[in-house]
Amino acid sequence: MEVVITPDYDAISRHAAGIVARLLYKKPNAVLGLATGATPLGLYRELIRLHRQEGLDFSKVTTFNLDEYVGLPADHPQSYHRYMWDNLLSQVNVSPSRVHIPNGMVRDMEEYCEWYEGEIARAGGIDLQVLGIGRDGHIAFNEPGSSLGSRTRIKTLARETVEDNARFFDRDEDVPRHAVTMGVGTIMEARQCLLLASGSLKAEAVAATIEGPITCQVTASALQLHRDAIAILDDQAAGRLKRREYYEWVFRHKESWLR
Ligand code: PGA
Repeated sequence: MEVVITPDYDAISRHAAGIVARLLYKKPNAVLGLATGATPLGLYRELIRLHRQEGLDFSKVTTFNLDEYVGLPADHPQSYHRYMWDNLLSQVNVSPSRVHIPNGMVRDMEEYCEWYEGEIARAGGIDLQVLGIGRDGHIAFNEPGSSLGSRTRIKTLARETVEDNARFFDRDEDVPRHAVTMGVGTIMEARQCLLLASGSLKAEAVAATIEGPITCQVTASALQLHRDAIAILDDQAAGRLKRREYYEWVFRHKESWLR
């Protein structure tokens, strides 16, 4: 895994946006895998800025979101549908027909999840998947114990995740306990993965992901097997890495072998 350590959250966002923008310039009809949560907000702000000020074009882009709460309608203020439209999609020139966000309200989830996987395949697969990481090391809602080969399905959220998400809901009992989520196996098929992490609360999960064993107890650790995964961290999220100096050394010297 390539590890990029930046000074702060804004630098994570700029670095990640640069990678996304370069992909869209090279492949205007790219398929983007998108994530929700606090971490990618800066990336989305930067993409909106690039769209407005530099004409970054989303008109041919297809998007697939990682997950959605089960039981929340698309127009619920805390749904990931609302999050995506409010924080990115309504502010760039993406075509709504190319936006895919899992539907947490369908009756036959099994059939629906199969269809969602099929849609990703029919779009030609995901070129670049944006990922956050949970304190428990989850990617998307693949909580500890999720199969590293898992596909899109319903997951019961871990207590830690429910607690972390409670801040977005009026009452604790309103926080959904289930989500429909791409599996680890689905994510691993993306051609490139960008894992973003900011702040000391993520430092332990980040260290386990990058330097620990590959284990379903830290589902992000599956990315060690991905051929093109980049972890973009800030100083605090990198705080528990043992080989930090080496990653910084590699990053400093990357330019010289690219020239
Ligand atoms: P966060 O969530 O970006 O809000 O910290 C990340 C995650 O739980 O995947």
